[in-house]
Amino acid sequence: MEKFVIDGGTPLRGEIHVSGAKNSAVAILPATLLLDVPVIIENVPDISDVAICLKILRGLGAQVERMAGEPDTYRISCEHVKEHYVPYAEAKKMRASYYFLGALLGRCGRAAAAMPGGCSIGARPIDQHLKAFEALGAVHTMQGTDVVEVSADALYGNTICMNVVSVGATMNAILAAVKAQGVTVIENAAREPHIVDLANFLNFMGASIKGAGTDVIKITGTPVLLGNAGEGSVVDYRYSVVPDQIEAGTFMVAAAATRGDVVIRGVIPKHLEAITAKLRESGVQVVESQDEDVIRVFVEEDDVLHGTNIKTSPYPGFPTDMQPQMATLLTIAEGQSNIRESVWEDRFRYVHELKKMGARIEITQDGAVVQGGASLHGACVNACDLRAGAAMIIAGLAAQGRTEIVDIQFIERGYDNIVGKLRGIGAKMEKIRSLP
Ligand code: UD1
Repeated sequence: MEKFVIDGGTPLRGEIHVSGAKNSAVAILPATLLLDVPVIIENVPDISDVAICLKILRGLGAQVERMAGEPDTYRISCEHVKEHYVPYAEAKKMRASYYFLGALLGRCGRAAAAMPGGCSIGARPIDQHLKAFEALGAVHTMQGTDVVEVSADALYGNTICMNVVSVGATMNAILAAVKAQGVTVIENAAREPHIVDLANFLNFMGASIKGAGTDVIKITGTPVLLGNAGEGSVVDYRYSVVPDQIEAGTFMVAAAATRGDVVIRGVIPKHLEAITAKLRESGVQVVESQDEDVIRVFVEEDDVLHGTNIKTSPYPGFPTDMQPQMATLLTIAEGQSNIRESVWEDRFRYVHELKKMGARIEITQDGAVVQGGASLHGACVNACDLRAGAAMIIAGLAAQGRTEIVDIQFIERGYDNIVGKLRGIGAKMEKIRSLP
């Protein structure tokens, strides 16, 4: 068993660099199955969800090599992939294993995987994913209660109207449609930066996807994806994953909660607008650099932080994946804040843990109400899920005394070298092995 130990109360100061986006990488890596040439993917975060994706790819028969001297870069060749069954244990370990369904369906007309696992933050149905596959001509069957198989003799473009705005279903529809015959239109599509990133990657490799980043995406099927240089090219294509919006947001809130001064490098400020707006409303100073990929977040001695209201919603709204971190900041800001969660019904499990540290926060029928102005103190707390774990780190950094966080495997699913990075800006934080 491993845990994080944090001695809090030190303002974070300095520069920190953001890694590639988890939610892009876990879609782009399966998407390599659709390519007819090898590809090099850069800026891949070193997190356990990526390790699982790479293991699944290797298990399917792909050649995956980490590039010498470039630890965040992989060369992937799917030429010899024949398998269509995603190993059960791996599929169960993460939510994003569902992208292998769309990618394998698009590649070979057949895919099977266990119903996806991942953090328990609410019911995580895949009905919209299956609806998209079926619209393209696939059928799905269940093997027992837990393994879903999708297959099609051929995939044909169609109009898919999503009943809910779903990141995963939008990405999976793209993956399945990219090589289908004819034109696919996805209506009520999600607009997250990782959707644009997946579309940019596939377009870079020769696909025709228009409208990603809006709620209508049009895909004209392309039978082979050879990159722009065409068949027989000896060029290795290189694509770089976009920066992680949620990792950046987590560092922004950590800087604010410790009343620090942190320059966050390698970001796309546009992707952070909803987070920036809420931080400013709370009295935090945020400066976006005009011509660099940098954002500075700081709190001066006389600045008073105050409460604000938050309602999570799909991009460009305030991201649900930042809700626990922002709520943590609001426990120490002055005044009352209301938090509404509109994406995941079970996303308040961190509240119980924050209360152990002195937070005054109550779950209501509509969300949570925070009575601010708390002086947080260290405690032993659980990282109930990935972003709840990030909230515990922020609370620990802001609290007086020592905080111990267990179940850190959830945090390591999505944060690349979190201890090293935060130590680099002054956090007194260690990862230690503890007795079970
Ligand atoms: C992705 C992110 C996750 C983030 C979430 C919302 C990845 C790997 N994970 O998850 O970090 O919290 O977006 O921004 O990118 N829904 C259905 N039927 C479906 C699919 C979804 O009803 O078939 C509902 C869900 O229950 C949820 C809402 O739609 O209430 C949004 O879910 P979705 O956007 O699909 O989330 P994920 O893609 O799983």
